[in-house]
Amino acid sequence: MIIEAHGLTKTYQSKSGPVHALAGLDLAVPRGTVKALLGPNGAGKTTVVKMLTTLIRPDAGTAIIDGIDVVRQPKLVRRIIGVSGQYAAVDENLTGFENLEMVGRLYHLGGPTARKRAQELIDLFELTAAGNRPVKGFSGGMRRRIDLAGALVINPKVLFLDEPTTGLDPRSRIALWGVIKRLVADGTTVLLTTQYLEEADQLADDIVVIDDGRVIAEGTSDQLKAQIGGHRVVVALVDAADGAAARDILARHGSGVASIFTDGRGVEVAVTDGPTALQNMLADLRAAQINLHDAGMRRPTLDDVFLKLTGHKADLAQPDDDDSSGPKLSKRAQARALSVADAVRPDLERAK
Ligand SMILES: Nc1ncnc2c1ncn2[C@@H]1O[C@H](COP(=O)(O)OP(=O)(O)O)[C@@H](O)[C@H]1O
Ligand SMILES: [Mg+2]
Repeated sequence: MIIEAHGLTKTYQSKSGPVHALAGLDLAVPRGTVKALLGPNGAGKTTVVKMLTTLIRPDAGTAIIDGIDVVRQPKLVRRIIGVSGQYAAVDENLTGFENLEMVGRLYHLGGPTARKRAQELIDLFELTAAGNRPVKGFSGGMRRRIDLAGALVINPKVLFLDEPTTGLDPRSRIALWGVIKRLVADGTTVLLTTQYLEEADQLADDIVVIDDGRVIAEGTSDQLKAQIGGHRVVVALVDAADGAAARDILARHGSGVASIFTDGRGVEVAVTDGPTALQNMLADLRAAQINLHDAGMRRPTLDDVFLKLTGHKADLAQPDDDDSSGPKLSKRAQARALSVADAVRPDLERAK
């Protein structure tokens, strides 16, 4: 294990009282692998990263990186890690190139070496066009790249990425995933945090799900998905009066409780064999003369993982507006489900 942490504990003092950010968290990352810490806002992800990167000390617990004790020998640890994330700063007035050169100088690389490394990273991250412009004119995606490049100046043994794509548009996100995948292919060990199951799925060998400062599940993406069911089928009814009948049909072909949402006209269920289940459901819905606005499949989200594992939503500030006793979807998950249904609609139209 290149990272090994035991019992990490942290309580922050705030105006409204103590906040237990980490409650005895264990973590082990094998060399050359990518581990994702998956959790909602406030789960404790940044606190873990700050501890492992020596920015804050744990109240209790131990952490070793490549054999070096993070608390006892922070300076040695800093020489072998790179960190990129929400709090890492780039100088707005410097160009991309100058920022990278500055990082190199902070690590005592010497002028020529620092400049050479800066240029390599500009090329690697395809920032050539932006290399000579001040960072303040950069797009969000370019900023993330320069920030990530900064973390790589010293060729770290372990790279920490704190929510690398949060806030990016989908295209920039996919581009950044590409960059991260290339790094990983070179054998860098990565610990990344994310709020997106899809991001963990794309990048990580192994996922640790955290909530309230503790680990609530661990495994590969496939193992976690197996726990929550592979896909979900979502249908939108023309008439809310068909809700109960539609729910029975979905439940019959699904692998769990079917739930009703959005004014009783959306029905959703987890399925194991998605395409077959969807076809059977559509056939039975038609036989029952239930009219649909929409139908489709979507992949599970962090919201689904959370519902299953904790019984509560990742997004706590959601009022419920449905009448089902089964699992409930947050507004965000509903919106996503419906947009996925939109995306597959042409195929379904053709199939009719
Ligand atoms: N400096 C701080 N002072 C007080 N509370 C904090 C501080 N930093 C984080 N917290 C609280 O600790 C908890 C975990 O925060 P954090 O590690 O940032 O979570 P995440 O990165 O998963 O969103 C949250 O409840 C957050 O509000
Ligand atoms: Mg955070």
